[in-house]
Amino acid sequence: MGRIGRVIKSFIDKLSGSGTNAQFSSVEEFSGDQRTAQVFGPCNEDFAPPENCKTLDVQLGRDRGFLVSAAYHNQLIEPVAVHGERRLYSTNQAGDTVMSEIFLKQDGTILIKNAEVTITASPSGLLTIVTSGNSEITSAKTIINNDVEIIGNVDITGNVGIVGGTNMTGSIGMTGTITGAAVFNGAASNTHIHPQGNDSYGNTEQDTGVAK
Ligand SMILES: [Fe+2]
Repeated sequence: MGRIGRVIKSFIDKLSGSGTNAQFSSVEEFSGDQRTAQVFGPCNEDFAPPENCKTLDVQLGRDRGFLVSAAYHNQLIEPVAVHGERRLYSTNQAGDTVMSEIFLKQDGTILIKNAEVTITASPSGLLTIVTSGNSEITSAKTIINNDVEIIGNVDITGNVGIVGGTNMTGSIGMTGTITGAAVFNGAASNTHIHPQGNDSYGNTEQDTGVAK
């Protein structure tokens, strides 16, 4: 190993010491040799190559025995990105199956998916979430600044406050109580009376009293 190689090796040994979280990976060189290499990549990016990943190694100094992996290629996954696109994905340990991905497409589409969930942000502004399981939003407050259409049943555990009008075509099944001065087709629920016609003698009948 030449002097430059020794200096760099000393530096990398320091990085790889117990005080750091150096990432190592078993990789196969393009030559076919299997080696254990320390993983170097862009700053603030946490990744570990899968098994069977091809690596392009750079020799440091004159010693072929000391190499740094400069680039990786997983030949088991078919590339699908075209010019201008970027696809970030994880695989299983063997590296032969894509498990999850974020795909920034040429047309502006952003795709986030795994085997059971697909989130698509379309260039048109349409956001679609397709999932085989339940969806859950946990936040202090969820505000939707436009119309909401729900096709399916709605179960609400908390109270419902409605400021605008409500148009229903279905029936109402209630076990609770309607309180307040609700008005039904012009008749106040708590003050309306039922008028009575004259009796068979023609005497005026009193209207029945206030609803209770
Ligand atoms: Fe009544």
